[in-house]
Order: sequence, then C-alpha cells, then structure tokens
Amino acid sequence: MKIGFFDSGLGGLTVLKEAIENEKLKGEIYYLGDNKNTPYGLKDENFVKKIVEENINILINYGCNPIVIACNTATSLSIKELREKYKDIIFIGTEPAIKVASDAYMHKKILVLATSITIKQEKLLNLIDKLNIKKCVQLCAADKLVQFAEDINCNNLKKEVNDYIKELLSKYDLNEFSHIVLGCTHFPLFYENFKMVIKELYPNCNINIIDGAKGISINLIKHIKNINKDYDNETNTKVCIFLTKESETFKIRSRQILNNSKADIEYKLQ
Ligand code: DGL
Repeated sequence: MKIGFFDSGLGGLTVLKEAIENEKLKGEIYYLGDNKNTPYGLKDENFVKKIVEENINILINYGCNPIVIACNTATSLSIKELREKYKDIIFIGTEPAIKVASDAYMHKKILVLATSITIKQEKLLNLIDKLNIKKCVQLCAADKLVQFAEDINCNNLKKEVNDYIKELLSKYDLNEFSHIVLGCTHFPLFYENFKMVIKELYPNCNINIIDGAKGISINLIKHIKNINKDYDNETNTKVCIFLTKESETFKIRSRQILNNSKADIEYKLQ
C-alpha cells in the first residue's frame, strides 16, 4: 500500500511528521513537494489548480491511494474537482482547524492565518458560515511565512520571522481572541516564534495556537485501516520524497523537520 502526501513544498512535512511520530503511520510513503512552484498562495488560482492536478497525477501514477493533500491552499482550490475526477482515490484534505476552535468556544474571537488564496476560497467561507461563527472569525493572509519556511537559513531568520509575525499580530487586540488557527501547513514550523512574539506583546495572554495536523493524521490512519486489514502488522516507515526541482536546501530542511521520525528517507527528482 502506497500512501501519498502532497504540498507546494516543505509544509506538508509538518503533517507527515505528526502522522509518523504521534499516530505511528507506517508503510511506503511518497511525499511530493512542488518546490519548483512554491509558494502557491500568491499565484494565479487557475495556474495553481493546473499544477496541483499534474502533481496529484504523479502520485496516482506511482499507485498512491490514499493521498493526503497536506496543503490548505491546494485543498481549498482543488479537492472537490479531484474527488469528482478520480473516484477510486481517497483524498484526505487539509483545512484550517476552525471547527476545533469553534467547538471550544470561549466567547472570544478566532484569528485564522492562511495564504491569500485560502482565505478567499468558498470552502473556508462556507465552513465559517456552517459553523455560524462569521462574527467572531478574523482572516489574515500570512504568505511570507511560507517563504521563510522554505529558506535554508530558516533557523537563523528568527528576527525577520518574529518581526513579520509581530507586524501581523499587531493589527489585532489578542486579548479579544481565544485561538490563533495556523491554516497553512508551513506555519507550524514557527510555533516557537509565535509564542515568543505573543509573550512579548501580551505577557499574560493565554491564547491557544492550533493547527490541523493531528486531525488529518487520525483521519488518514482510520482510512488506511479500513482499506488494509493487515496494517497493524506493518513495521517499517519508508519515505520517498519527490522534488520538482533539484534542491539541496529542500533535502537539508526536510531532514531537519523529520529529524525525530526515524524514517528511512530517499529523494527523487520528478
Ligand atoms: N503549505 C501550504 C498551505 O497549507 C501552501 C503554501 C503556499 O505554497 O503558499 O496552504
């Protein structure tokens, strides 16, 4: 059984990491990071839709099923059409964990950070409508974090990253918010930065910062167990990472991110 993961770049590895480390995902995993075209969030929507389908086709041709679209931007733009077109494939999508924040309703607002494409899509707006929380949700584009995350010097960019986060958060009074939802799979790479900035701006603030990786991972394992009754006997985790552009940076960064996952990783150019 081959399990596919897809993202515009490194972000989906935050989901894969959660799935391997905390949900004990096993088996043959194919992760496609479209590093040639990253970031998606500021690009033309039709162009992104086209390349998402091309990339998903690569995973389908490798025999992957299920496929996790570990990218909020690609999910919000394309998952409906992909499900209609490839009926035999199980697509597991990613969407900002607004429901988690709304279920924990604390009579405060929810701040959703995502890419410019994600915050404009019907998928997200419909979810907010359905949960009836329009009045308490603020949407904020934070595209620059994607570029920071893909940078080889990411770990040395603390000041730049923190200044950018500060600039974003300064538009709001965080005392009025219960949750910050990280609605892009790249953003969990900056949990520590968020905590640092919030502590500086609001020393007594107890705001919750959440992402959707756990929910997606649990959902994935549930689907895998449904399809593969022998799954519990799997012991190894092998990760093959496909890149769309040769990049030492991607290799170094992906090893840093999956550092504790003890997965056997190899790289291939597509
Ligand atoms: N990781 C992505 C997401 O969850 C894509 C970000 C981008 O390429 O702009 O939206």
